Amino acid sequence: MLDGKRILLIIGGGVAAYKSLDLARRLMERGASVRGVLTPAGQQFITPMSVASLTGDECYTELFSLKDEAEMGHIRLSREADLVVVSPATADLMAKMANGLANDLASTILLATDKQVMIAPAMNAEMWAHKATQRNLETLRRDGILMVGPGDGMLACGEVGPGRLAEVPDMVEAIEGFFAGGNRPLAGKKIVLTAGPTHEPIDPVRYIANRSSGKQGFALAGALVDLGADVTLVAGPVTQETPAGVVRVDVETALEMDAAVKAALPADAAVCVAAVADWRMKAGSNGEKLKKSKDGVPALDLCENPDILKSLSGMKKGRPALVVGFAAETEKVVEHATAKRARKGCDMIVANDVSHETGIMGGDSNQVHVISDTGVESWPSMRKDEVAQALAKTIADALTQ
Ligand SMILES: Cc1cc2nc3c(=O)[nH]c(=O)nc-3n(C[C@H](O)[C@H](O)[C@H](O)COP(=O)(O)O)c2cc1C
Repeated sequence: MLDGKRILLIIGGGVAAYKSLDLARRLMERGASVRGVLTPAGQQFITPMSVASLTGDECYTELFSLKDEAEMGHIRLSREADLVVVSPATADLMAKMANGLANDLASTILLATDKQVMIAPAMNAEMWAHKATQRNLETLRRDGILMVGPGDGMLACGEVGPGRLAEVPDMVEAIEGFFAGGNRPLAGKKIVLTAGPTHEPIDPVRYIANRSSGKQGFALAGALVDLGADVTLVAGPVTQETPAGVVRVDVETALEMDAAVKAALPADAAVCVAAVADWRMKAGSNGEKLKKSKDGVPALDLCENPDILKSLSGMKKGRPALVVGFAAETEKVVEHATAKRARKGCDMIVANDVSHETGIMGGDSNQVHVISDTGVESWPSMRKDEVAQALAKTIADALTQ
């Protein structure tokens, strides 16, 4: 499975460093060659001698090594690999990677590499849960770094919780999956996705808007790219950062969103996450700001916006094979969303309760019901990035079955 694959294994300074020796063995058993890099902190836990003996290669430890750097060792090491694996990925190494620091051999390789990087984090549960680590993790995900683990359970420090290094067989499976392309079931599939609100101008300074933050849609765009899809994200006005690998088209109004979606076709799937305004002003204000007047309050004369989901679902020619809609409901969520699916003619509806008290709109977690012709699946409340990963997998299954 791993015949001829060259793996650069960077071992950070955590108690779990010793497990990387076993990882190296298992990878080599499967035909890979492994080259070890040990951080100074890593050397407090295992020795360069054990790494070198096990891998049958030199163990690299120094950035300023006269011998290795005569050949620009940090660049060469990063080039002469097919995959860079960091195990254990300490909180410190993750922070360095997320911020582009390069002050030792490991971090310099990680900044200089042109290869895919996979991290296996391991640390105390509080270190893992710390906002700084979670922020760095988010950045690394956006940067396209692959991750295996961490698991939940008894930690070396005696505490229990998330932060345990992934089990060696799971790491081997993730590495094999990477080389087999198994992590990329959507490779070659084109997906157009909408996210965020739309803004419908009333006059040059006022507009009709809604509370959509775009978080769920942006996370889903990133998760679909992680599975290999070629994603065009048509985004309403939001402040979210574009996930790595996503092609983003910014729009403001529903009419612009409709046009941008059509311009992005043909696609294998269309995923309509955006909270598109149902109505817009029938007539513009001729470019002038509306003024208060003694004639009373101005009437907002509205007309309907195009129904992007319905028109995609009803396309006679060139319809995407899978059309997914989102339903934001405040009552009878499943009942209303099921009716919406039938009304719009889409294949799948992802419904959530956006009543104010749920905190879902604009919040970090979501609880969804996935409604398709196979029935209703109600998922537990999860972080929006976790919902995104699970939805991306569901979309991949539906597109590739
Ligand atoms: C006994 C001991 C165990 C440690 N275990 C971990 C660990 O599991 N994960 C982690 O992120 N840091 C751990 N640390 C802290 C790191 O060793 C420290 O942050 C170090 O600077 C990491 O360096 P590196 O990222 O260059 O390997 C531990 C420290 C000690 C003294």
